[in-house]
Amino acid sequence: MKQINVSTGKPYPVKIGHGLLSGCGAEMQGIGLYGKALIVTDDNVAPFYLKKAEESLKQSGFAVFSRTLPHGEGSKNFDELVKLINFAAECGFSRSDTFVALGGGVIGDLCGFAAAVYMRGVHFVQLPTTLLAAVDSSVGGKTAVDLAAGKNLAGAFYQPALVVCDLDTFATLPQAEYANGMAEVIKYGFIRDKELLSLLQRPFEEEEVVARCVQSKAEIVANDEFDRGERMLLNFGHTVGHAIEARSGFTLPHGQAVAIGMVIVTQACVKNGLCPPETLDVMHKLLERYGLPTAAAYPMSELFDLMVNDKKSSGDAITFVLPRETGRCELKKLTRAEWTALLS
Ligand code: NAD
Ligand code: GLY
Repeated sequence: MKQINVSTGKPYPVKIGHGLLSGCGAEMQGIGLYGKALIVTDDNVAPFYLKKAEESLKQSGFAVFSRTLPHGEGSKNFDELVKLINFAAECGFSRSDTFVALGGGVIGDLCGFAAAVYMRGVHFVQLPTTLLAAVDSSVGGKTAVDLAAGKNLAGAFYQPALVVCDLDTFATLPQAEYANGMAEVIKYGFIRDKELLSLLQRPFEEEEVVARCVQSKAEIVANDEFDRGERMLLNFGHTVGHAIEARSGFTLPHGQAVAIGMVIVTQACVKNGLCPPETLDVMHKLLERYGLPTAAAYPMSELFDLMVNDKKSSGDAITFVLPRETGRCELKKLTRAEWTALLS
């Protein structure tokens, strides 16, 4: 088991290892939580892991309640949030009680936002069950729901009190979802961890790789909890990726779109002499190794207007994450004229 401490305004531990779910109640008790716990999960995750989580919490003295939502992005909205907090109120939850997210990023984001607003904040614990949630969304305190106008448009920064990542839960994850998470894992390598890229070229220990990614995220978030600078590095490949996702009518999975986005930006940097060609070679090889695509089905000209809608844009300017060498990226704010020239 590995533990990484996240030094945000409210610091917390992230525990990563095999078989940790059955001990999640004891971990929660160990950081001083007690009373009622509301486990929020989805209908794919519940049949595999809800009972185990419930039993663990009960054994540690928690009064356990649960809500199982339909799986998928469609549940990440205000309707589900309101139902959740009404349920908590009906069950008599108070500010000393805890909301527990058992699932992927959808459940984590929704449950975290509910925890942030219910009684102006109750304790919140993340039990990530997807690779993406383990390496990215469960750490760092971004919580949100989607609006009709776009994804993640309403939310709060609200750090969990604890993250317990049981790597055994990945055994039931569909291969496509695992690949989505691998796109984010590969992203960490290119933005700041060249050694991780070497590890990924061979069969690897999940515990080591997930812990390296969480360590990176913890350091970035500790330096920039509220996403005003360094944290934007985590958007590598995402500005173009979000445009590709939108152009596909959200039929292309997020991880695949991010993979293509990373390639497009890297190709542009290589072409403009900002980055050595071997960075692109390493990227192609790794993405192919993990079943991720490396080319978009759309011409760039169809993506430009969609990129301006990105949350990271201000007016026509966008802060891009540009690879400068393998394992190092930098942030650069570019005007529309500059980024269209770079990417054309
Ligand atoms: P997800 O939560 O929809 O999970 C993917 C699918 O896998 C779902 O169908 C789910 O039911 C299923 N699943 C989850 N765990 C499983 C398991 N162990 N076994 C079998 N099936 C399982 O998606 P995700 O990729 O985990 O997260 C995507 C969401 O995360 C998006 O809403 C995105 O906006 C958000 N996100 C948030 C942050 C953040 O910092 N808060 C970062 C990245 C992404
Ligand atoms: N997933 C991006 C962030 O946490 O900032």
